[in-house]
Amino acid sequence: MPSGQPVFPRRVPDAYIAMRGLVVASLLILLVGGTDAFRICAFNAHRLTLTKVIKESVMDTLVQILARCDIMVLQEVVDSSQNTVLFLLQKLQSSKSYSFLNSSLLGRSTYKEKYVYIYRSDKTQVLNFYQYNDTEDIFAREPFVAQFTLPSKILPSVVLVPLHTTPKDVEKELNALYDVFLDVSQRWQNENVILLGDFNADCASLAKKRLNSLLLRTKAGFHWVIPDGEDTTVRASTNCTYDRIVMHGQGCQKLLKAAATFDFPRRFQLTEEEALRVSDHYPVEVELNKAAQGIPPHCLSTLLLLSLSQLG
Ligand SMILES: *[C@@H]1O[C@H](CO)[C@@H](O)[C@H](O)[C@H]1NC(C)=O
Ligand SMILES: *[C@@H]1O[C@H](CO)[C@@H](O)[C@H](O)[C@H]1NC(C)=O
Ligand SMILES: *[C@@H]1O[C@H](CO)[C@@H](O)[C@H](O)[C@H]1NC(C)=O
Repeated sequence: MPSGQPVFPRRVPDAYIAMRGLVVASLLILLVGGTDAFRICAFNAHRLTLTKVIKESVMDTLVQILARCDIMVLQEVVDSSQNTVLFLLQKLQSSKSYSFLNSSLLGRSTYKEKYVYIYRSDKTQVLNFYQYNDTEDIFAREPFVAQFTLPSKILPSVVLVPLHTTPKDVEKELNALYDVFLDVSQRWQNENVILLGDFNADCASLAKKRLNSLLLRTKAGFHWVIPDGEDTTVRASTNCTYDRIVMHGQGCQKLLKAAATFDFPRRFQLTEEEALRVSDHYPVEVELNKAAQGIPPHCLSTLLLLSLSQLG
């Protein structure tokens, strides 16, 4: 080392790099903290077939809708093969890992559809699942129930009960959904259950008075997080709260952060006609907190400010 070379200027870049590293790390933690919630969604994807999803505009929108969700419960998947879902997964996989679980084709006539869960396999796993044994044939498409792990110490798992009712039997099916709740919560000893999907629980399919006399309304402990009056339909000419999320269980409700419809036409600036090529429904979504973990946000801001001031 040549003599007389000042030591100080050599040390500044090192300190600078170290501090910059700290800032980047803090920002990363902040970003991760910002997406801390776990999002569960349900979407009636209106007769989803391979022919439909290979249209680029439909596929782009669907992928963006799916990418918002840690677990998505798709309804009206009309495909006897796996190809529609595999195609979507292939488009989704680019940065994150996804997996899926589908029911068999369900329905009383030649028209049949599946329930399909698409989920972030790096964040959650399927613990178990079954097709509800609908011995009295109450449901046109009996719930395909699944239990998922959650990245939360407060609530390590949650049961999902999807239902797409048939419009002419809404009241009967929704009352029977209470029996499905009893069946699954006993079977898996888990009272943290989320019932979700296109219940057709409004407008011509279910009068307000009938809605309020449903077992899932009169029994204690069920929390309808998509409120009545929220429009879940794409058409400007309709205003119905068809799609719903109903939560049961203390653990679930403690973690509830937000619930809303996702107005994808507005978010992606689609005309009604463009949106209808994807679906006539909005997705409904619920966000669960993972609860207190790691450093509280105000400590992070302090850390960040400190790092920034050190840089100056
Ligand atoms: C998923 O779909 C495939 C193809 O239709 C079917 O063979 C399989 O049984 C389905 N899975 C379940 C759990 O029903
Ligand atoms: C469904 O329930 C009926 C009547 O209780 C029973 O006979 C049948 O074995 C059950 N099926 C399954 C798959 O559990
Ligand atoms: C739908 O109707 C409800 C009242 O039932 C109203 O509060 C809401 O603003 C309406 N939404 C739209 C999009 O028109």
